[in-house]
Amino acid sequence: MSRTPRRILITGGAGFIGSNFVHHWCDRYPQDRIVVLDALTYAGNRENLADLEERANVRFVQGDICDRVLVEALFRGEAIDTIAHFAAESHVDRSILGPDAFVRTNVVGTFTLLEAFRQYWNTMGQPSDYRFLHVSTDEVYGSLGPTDPAFSETTPYAPNSPYSASKAGSDHLVRAYHHTYGLPTLITNCSNNYGPFHFPEKLLPLMCINILMGKSLPVYGDGQNIRDWLYVGDHCSALDVVIHRGTPGETYNIGGNNEVKNIDLVHKLCDLMDELAPNLPVRPSHKLITFVKDRPGHDRRYAIDATKLRTELGWTPAQTIDTGLRQTVQWYLTHRDWWQPLLSTEYQAYYQQVYASV
Ligand code: NAD
Ligand code: TYD
Repeated sequence: MSRTPRRILITGGAGFIGSNFVHHWCDRYPQDRIVVLDALTYAGNRENLADLEERANVRFVQGDICDRVLVEALFRGEAIDTIAHFAAESHVDRSILGPDAFVRTNVVGTFTLLEAFRQYWNTMGQPSDYRFLHVSTDEVYGSLGPTDPAFSETTPYAPNSPYSASKAGSDHLVRAYHHTYGLPTLITNCSNNYGPFHFPEKLLPLMCINILMGKSLPVYGDGQNIRDWLYVGDHCSALDVVIHRGTPGETYNIGGNNEVKNIDLVHKLCDLMDELAPNLPVRPSHKLITFVKDRPGHDRRYAIDATKLRTELGWTPAQTIDTGLRQTVQWYLTHRDWWQPLLSTEYQAYYQQVYASV
């Protein structure tokens, strides 16, 4: 099918999901212009894009989404028609330690992009094929009880952490910009992702790396919290579908129907590591599991109902938790040179703060 090339700005494209999305877009749409805007915070890593930056159609810009002058210049200078907005502070534990950056980037940064895009879109004559995709999280819906139905697009917002509250605030702004100004926005709320380029502070990479180093595996509370896991490549394919076929103003939930208790996920990971990793310092790996003090305000259960995306836009995930987890473990085993430098002094200081007692 013929397709008019797009000129896409990808914010946060040096982070975990953003960089996977840049790879996805480059592979699928080599005719498109791709501009990555990323501030390179502790979570941003240019190495994630190392093999793409040589391409003539890809440009990397180090900059802040709160910088209105820069953002406006990029829209105009690059004739951007599509925004995929990933840039955010994304880790719940860091939001508990210091919420300021979360409000700044997630709320003020999203507002800055929206306001600049609105004015630019007006100047261009309000083209109907422009798109502003806001990538958000299922955490805005709060916490489910054991028998509650999964989150749908009409579930009321009830964010419980500074992270989820700041994402909820940004979602509301995006919604308002469509409702009030007619801006062609799209919102997606996705469940927990895992896969390549995942920063070590998050559950799966943290456990994987700790197993390789023979360090204890800190499971919060009783380990019975449930998350709904989606392979990052499936998230990217869903966002692609939403950009091309989603209806402006709509929200789409993205999830893979993979609810797993944290403790069961850690056991699955331990089994895979025992099978795939040679020369582990401690074997079997599950001997390293240590229950630690719970995260304050820890949401008990997330689950996504992705019926709308499946029935209206025809998207389905390609990976199950077992196939996706195996690929992910293999990636971490063969990319030690990617994750080793991330265990920096800054990371050690953060680790000390959160896991002081472990
Ligand atoms: P990440 O923390 O790995 O990456 C965030 C990126 O944004 C980094 O490259 C960072 O440098 C950049 N950034 C931060 N502040 C910036 C600023 N002010 N200006 C420009 N760039 C800035 O996050 P992620 O896990 O890839 O998440 C990406 C998006 O997806 C976020 O909006 C997050 O809320 C959402 N999301 C994540 C998950 C998940 O499981 N990780 C699930 C659903 C939704
Ligand atoms: P995380 O990867 O931080 O994602 P989120 O908090 O956005 O869901 O954590 C996933 C789950 O794992 C969450 O219930 C908290 C738990 N967890 C631990 O038990 N130990 C850890 O060291 C981390 C980082 C998370």
